[in-house]
Amino acid sequence: MADVVLDKVVKKFGEAEVVAGIDLTVRDLEFCILVGPSGCGKTTTLRMIAGLEEVTSGDIRIAGQSVTWTPPRDRDIAMVFQSYALYPHMTVRKNLSFALELHKVARAEIDRRIAEVAQIIGLTPLLDRKPRQLSGGQRQRVAVGAALVRQAGVLLFDEPLSNLDAKLRVHMRTELKRLHQAVKSTMVYVTHDQIEAMTMGDRIVIMNGGRIVQVGTAMEVYDHPTSRFVAGFIGTPPMNFFEGEIGNGSLALQGGVQLPFLREGAKPGRKITFGIRPEHIYLRTRENTGRVPATIEVVEPLGHRTILTARCAAGVLQLEAEAMPGLKPGDAADLFFDLPRAHLFDQATECVL
Ligand SMILES: Nc1ncnc2c1ncn2[C@@H]1O[C@H](COP(=O)(O)OP(=O)(O)OP(=O)(O)O)[C@@H](O)[C@H]1O
Ligand SMILES: [Mg+2]
Repeated sequence: MADVVLDKVVKKFGEAEVVAGIDLTVRDLEFCILVGPSGCGKTTTLRMIAGLEEVTSGDIRIAGQSVTWTPPRDRDIAMVFQSYALYPHMTVRKNLSFALELHKVARAEIDRRIAEVAQIIGLTPLLDRKPRQLSGGQRQRVAVGAALVRQAGVLLFDEPLSNLDAKLRVHMRTELKRLHQAVKSTMVYVTHDQIEAMTMGDRIVIMNGGRIVQVGTAMEVYDHPTSRFVAGFIGTPPMNFFEGEIGNGSLALQGGVQLPFLREGAKPGRKITFGIRPEHIYLRTRENTGRVPATIEVVEPLGHRTILTARCAAGVLQLEAEAMPGLKPGDAADLFFDLPRAHLFDQATECVL
């Protein structure tokens, strides 16, 4: 049992408050992703959980026990860093056993754990090699293995895939997910890559400016973003945004674009930001859509789908069409916005309406 609770955790560096009082419960055995733009406080939060950074105020509990003033080695955690350091002169086996030897774990137990972990992450044939004899992905696996052999209740990862090339990242994403199913640890995983965040974890914690702005499953934060920030941060290509105002039974977007307004409750005159995802703009009319004339500017085939960049009176937007939409740059096209699937945000607060 190793749940992790952050209770009003604040971190200041001098006058600068970089973690601004966050509350979070990571459940036992959960794979929890912390995601957000550079500088939002992800690493600092992880380092406070690890005990590598003191909290300014607030409390951190692991498995129900306050660890706020517990030294890192007594916290039942293991951490994989962004720049994972392997000892270059030691074999993989020695890299894995090193920390356990320091902790005076018995030899037989060390050998047992290494065999088990090497099996799980596919290092068995590599145990007698030195780090320079390994590929980037293999080295990364050794770094993960070195954390796993500690058998900590909580595993912390700080952007462990950021040094790998694109293909290997995708592969390691799947591997880490598989790993989570095989080991009995709670995992907290930091990334600034929203695709990693969407695909890997049970729940995503989205941070911005030292605060948690939304917590949920991938589909919850994708389908129901509570703020313009989250709506724009999650999803590729990103959601399209247009400024506008609520009218009487209509929405007036920038550039004179008028859409029928199908939602109750918002007062005419209210300034809003209209958000619509690329896959909710169609090339043919459907029920509850609003027609917007546009000109195609860029066509990007992805194989199974095609991304179109188009210009309408409200501005430039992107939509996702079927593989062969039969359009080329310069073509005129009527676009149809799926209005029930659009998102409205208050312009001033940026919160969802
Ligand atoms: N030791 C430090 N002293 C002063 N400021 C720091 C220190 N460590 C981090 N900061 C500042 O705290 C803020 C949060 O940093 P942090 O490393 O937690 O961000 P991050 O979300 O991990 O970003 P990235 O995605 O770039 O790794 C940044 O503005 C950073 O400059
Ligand atoms: Mg960081």
